[in-house]
Amino acid sequence: MAQIIDGKAVAAKVRETVRVETEALKEKGITPGLAVVIVGDDPASRTYVNNKKKACAQAGIYSEEYALPASTTQAELMELVEKLNAKKDINGILVQSPLPEGLDETAVVEAIAPEKDVDAFHPSNVGRIMIGNFHFLPCTPAGVIELLKSVGVEISGKNCVVIGRSNIVGKPMAMLLLHENGTVTICHSKTRNLKEICRQADILIAAVGRRRFVTADMVKPGAAVIDVGINRDENGKLCGDVDFAEVEKIASCITPVPGGVGPMTIAMLLRNTITAAKLQNGVET
Ligand code: GUN
Repeated sequence: MAQIIDGKAVAAKVRETVRVETEALKEKGITPGLAVVIVGDDPASRTYVNNKKKACAQAGIYSEEYALPASTTQAELMELVEKLNAKKDINGILVQSPLPEGLDETAVVEAIAPEKDVDAFHPSNVGRIMIGNFHFLPCTPAGVIELLKSVGVEISGKNCVVIGRSNIVGKPMAMLLLHENGTVTICHSKTRNLKEICRQADILIAAVGRRRFVTADMVKPGAAVIDVGINRDENGKLCGDVDFAEVEKIASCITPVPGGVGPMTIAMLLRNTITAAKLQNGVET
């Protein structure tokens, strides 16, 4: 049976280091501040935003929420971003995605000052990650790397297969694994021989968004399996992309859903927020 990777415990450790660092910054007169913008009333987004605010409070990070109605115009949203770019007590800006239909998410992300882009979604930060000269790591992929390291999984030289090529997870995930000297394959809906490729993976990362997409016959015995998916099963219960009950029997380690990658995303957001505060105040990161 696989070792279950406890994302909550690893995230709690990261959050504690963030809390200690925040205390040290406050002694220097710096209070890290995060602005969270939510547009519309998507219930999942509401839950994420609440969790982010709660995590900020626990870590001693100042946070502001801007909850806008779904009828908000592009111009109004852009104006808010500009205001937050200029706001001295705000070091990080996060606009919760997805935005309601009709709003241009790309334009919003590009309007965020790169030094406040704690999601690392701005093209300038994406480019920095590609080059390997970055301040902010994308939260979910960075959380995955931390989880692998927490159980001693060596990445260097290993076959790493990422299923999914989104800008938020798949692509930056592949890049971070490459930075760790993994041999990386990205699979997607057009990939041929998906099963055979996945079976080569020493480290398999699922970021598809389809429940039970990764079945046991796609997993090499002894592989490390990380499940980034957040789906609902037939009974409305949260589940990932991996058939956990079956894959658990052959993997060496595996993340559960919930309680795996999810808690790490927020922990890494907090870390990026203190990095932003340090950068903006000339403190070494
Ligand atoms: N929606 C789902 N995940 C994320 C995230 O990491 N950042 C933002 N801004 N929106 C999201």
